[in-house]
Amino acid sequence: MWRLLASVLLFSCLFVYSASLGDSEVTCSGIVPLRYRNDKISITDYGGVGDGRTVNTKAFRAAIYRIQHLKRRGGTLLYIPPGVYLTESFNLTSHMTLYLAKGAVIKAVQDTRNWPLIDPLPSYGRGRELPGGRYMSFIHGDGLRDVVITGQNGTIDGQGEVWWNLWRSRTLKYTRPNLIEFKDSKEIIISNVIFQNSPFWNIHPVYCSEVVIHHVTILAPQDSPNTDGIDPDSSVNVCIEDSFISTGDDLVAIKSGWDQYGIAYGRPSSNITIRRITGSSPFAGIAIGSETSGGIKNIVAEHITLSNMGVGVNIKTNIGRGGYIKNIKISNVYVDTAKYGIKIAGDTGDHPDANYNPNALPVVKGIHIKNVWGVNVRKAGSIQGLKGSPFTGICLSEINLHGSLNTYRTWKCSDVIGTSLKVSPSPCSELRTTGGSSFCSSAF
Ligand SMILES: *[C@@H]1O[C@H](CO)[C@@H](O)[C@H](O)[C@H]1NC(C)=O
Ligand SMILES: *[C@@H]1O[C@H](CO)[C@@H](O)[C@H](O)[C@H]1NC(C)=O
Ligand SMILES: *[C@@H]1O[C@H](CO)[C@@H](O)[C@H](O)[C@H]1NC(C)=O
Repeated sequence: MWRLLASVLLFSCLFVYSASLGDSEVTCSGIVPLRYRNDKISITDYGGVGDGRTVNTKAFRAAIYRIQHLKRRGGTLLYIPPGVYLTESFNLTSHMTLYLAKGAVIKAVQDTRNWPLIDPLPSYGRGRELPGGRYMSFIHGDGLRDVVITGQNGTIDGQGEVWWNLWRSRTLKYTRPNLIEFKDSKEIIISNVIFQNSPFWNIHPVYCSEVVIHHVTILAPQDSPNTDGIDPDSSVNVCIEDSFISTGDDLVAIKSGWDQYGIAYGRPSSNITIRRITGSSPFAGIAIGSETSGGIKNIVAEHITLSNMGVGVNIKTNIGRGGYIKNIKISNVYVDTAKYGIKIAGDTGDHPDANYNPNALPVVKGIHIKNVWGVNVRKAGSIQGLKGSPFTGICLSEINLHGSLNTYRTWKCSDVIGTSLKVSPSPCSELRTTGGSSFCSSAF
């Protein structure tokens, strides 16, 4: 045990040291302090068995109960040694670090029948997939602060296949569980962990602030349904960087609630930075929406490297959403092979029920996209606003989307007002408003 704790300690020191080296590269390190935890316990002290067969629910719940109730000064680190720890879903608590050693795997049981249900999110009014409650996320945090999930690239495995099959056969009863959800929480760090085979979205911070997610790997098959990588939702001050994401749906999608429920709840997503993300997906690399009803503003995404994509950059909303999408800056995106380079659309996504207000039109304003390089991109771009709410202040500069055989060399636009500079192929006339160059360059 002591040798093990010493190595945890050594690793923590190295981690802090390398994070502080940070030289000229901008990072999110330091935004949320990485606390050193004096008090350390191991899952094996609570009966945990990493044989891949024993169900460890009691061990996780007991260890976390101990952290919650003993309240050791500076919080507690829960160490997961190498091994495969099968468990049902569990709740985290405040002031804790979940530390996965190299070779540690926390694996979800595949018991969909006894999976706990929780209330729908108020900003969605119902489960995202089906009316009523929703299955609790595999690892869940509600009303917490100061939580770290880290280690030496151990794995959190959702074994999502059974859930994907329920979805495919249309026999799901409620909305599938996320792999990790933090709700109403703050000061969260997720780093150096591998997430795989989530039943639904992978990492879902909702109504959160001060969230840092970096140096993570997120993997799910390309045909796995709705396995979004990271979905900051009605959350502020979020930083996501230096990660590899390859899943069956959007790599990062910023959201803020759904139609009349999201409008009533009124919680925007703002001040979100996404940087140095690499990945691949049949859907979007950087997505905003389609649930945008609480409003989405002040978003920066930069240095994004994508391959084999559906869409490189996708901003999507719909009638009935209300809210807004404004002050979005996306730059330095490289896309190798995609159906669309850039797509901004006002007709995307379904509605929670028939009571949405068709006159609640989103406002989309101030979208700046700069330095995008694409090769083998089938359709360069499409920007389709709403008749009663044209998208304005759309500014594109230094964009080169190279096609291949049988590609559409033109942009498709409607109900959009904007400017462009050095965009190839040449954009539609709606994006050639005069005064473009000064407007574009002042944006960055
Ligand atoms: C876990 O948290 C959820 C949501 O806050 C709650 O409904 C549930 O009872 C908790 N489960 C346990 C075992 O504490
Ligand atoms: C874990 O993976 C991340 C992301 O790929 C990488 O940056 C980091 O160096 C790895 N850490 C360890 C301890 O292997
Ligand atoms: C924006 O978020 C970052 C963390 O990503 C934080 O450091 C900064 O203070 C926030 N800015 C504002 C205006 O809240």
